[in-house]
Amino acid sequence: MLKTKASSPAVLILAAGLGKRMRSPLPKVLHEIGGSPLLFHILRKVRDVAPDSSVAVVVGYGREQVEARVRGAEEFSRMKISFVHQTEQRGTGHAARCAMDSPWGEAVLKAKSPVLVLPGDLPLLSQELVTQMLAPFGRTDAMRLLTCALPDPTGYGRIVRRGTSGPVLRIVEEKDATEREKELREVAASIYLFQAAFMRYALQRLKNKNAQGEYYLTDLVAAAAGAKKRIDVLKWKPADDLRGVNDPWELALAGRLLNERTVRRVSLGGVKIIDPSNTWIDGTVRVEEGAVIHPGAILAGATVVAAGAVIGPRVVLKDVTVGKDATIKTGTVAEASVIGEKAQVGPYAHLRPESLVGEAAKIGNFVELKKARIGAHTSVAHLSYLGDAEVGRDVNIGCGFVTCNFDGRIIDGKRKHRTIIEDEVFMGSDCQTVAPVRVGRGAYVASGSTITEDVESEALAIARCRQVNKPGVARRLRGK
Ligand code: UD1
Ligand code: CA
Repeated sequence: MLKTKASSPAVLILAAGLGKRMRSPLPKVLHEIGGSPLLFHILRKVRDVAPDSSVAVVVGYGREQVEARVRGAEEFSRMKISFVHQTEQRGTGHAARCAMDSPWGEAVLKAKSPVLVLPGDLPLLSQELVTQMLAPFGRTDAMRLLTCALPDPTGYGRIVRRGTSGPVLRIVEEKDATEREKELREVAASIYLFQAAFMRYALQRLKNKNAQGEYYLTDLVAAAAGAKKRIDVLKWKPADDLRGVNDPWELALAGRLLNERTVRRVSLGGVKIIDPSNTWIDGTVRVEEGAVIHPGAILAGATVVAAGAVIGPRVVLKDVTVGKDATIKTGTVAEASVIGEKAQVGPYAHLRPESLVGEAAKIGNFVELKKARIGAHTSVAHLSYLGDAEVGRDVNIGCGFVTCNFDGRIIDGKRKHRTIIEDEVFMGSDCQTVAPVRVGRGAYVASGSTITEDVESEALAIARCRQVNKPGVARRLRGK
């Protein structure tokens, strides 16, 4: 049974629309900026300001997908989130009504909780805005309405007041507005706080006589004004907070704004960012004081960059941990890997998932690692592939080395075989090891060898044909 304390507010998030203007089959609220779905940005603000609130998310289009994404997110696991199904998208007022008529709404009414309504497509809402919207109601307030003056109000519902600055009378949608109403700059952001009983009462009486034939939540303003109820108006200044996402262009703009906020925060935390307008950092990334980030870097997911590390130009890191004083050079791409302290990686290295580069190790240009552990002080300096490999410390891998980890067969249910190269091995240039195979500690492998059998510790392995020089044969061949 849902329970709502009178002290903790209820929050209603509208997220059932397809978002036609996105021209995409993905539900609008699952489109991502800063590495997270639009809906997550809103849920985070609610979690940070009112962690105990009883939250309802109205879902409809693609609801299985939306629900699965939210339920699968560990960061929201301690919130009280219910999903309300709006089977047909008949407008924001209809969506709100579905919620108020649901068991969640019954509990909210019973608890007399004020209901904060947030649309699912305003990802840049600030914590401050949510805090101020949730401030306790005055004794006679039926609702609180957030408005904002925009230089370009196109697309938003306009606030119609008595006279120019008298009390609010109603909200008119762009599609229903007269030319004169369209000139009004003060807009509604779809953010309200309602007294629950008034909300339900007014929602049940909504009409859909408008250009879109929809039930508009905005019409609750006229309902309150008409019934001489008090409307508390919160005028919001930073217009960016209210930037809605309705089409791919707005998604891009919101993404850029969010990124600017994140990059600014990281920079003020003591990180040297050479070109803020050309650096992308997800909100979930952590960069420690004293790191340097060069232009074109993209840091995503759960990436952590330690103090003193240098992230070179056009480096892409997703879920990567970069150790203290490590250097990641130009054009390196890494995912779900760990790079040790003082290690050097790149330029143009590729670390595929589950790779681990040890302390002060060196991974040079055009080296690809996949599920490879590279020990401390080991060098893989040029043009190599190491997959499913374990390489010890102080190993030198020459140029053009390849672990042949897949032979087309399946052994013990495994397709890929492991290569083990123990500490202090010297691998000459242009060698291959055919897995499963082990090269023992301190062994030498001669250049151009194809190693198919284990090499014991301290041995020299040569696995290539002996050279034959045939005097004069070249001249003869040329003569033909
Ligand atoms: C809405 C407001 C408009 C305001 C603008 C600000 C209405 C009628 N209009 O317009 O005044 O200026 O937001 O961002 O409220 N949704 C549902 N079910 C539906 C319809 C919509 O859950 O049946 C959800 C959508 O998924 C979306 C949110 O409600 O997250 C807003 O819907 P949208 O169609 O984007 O409304 P706007 O046209 O932006
Ligand atoms: Ca919208």
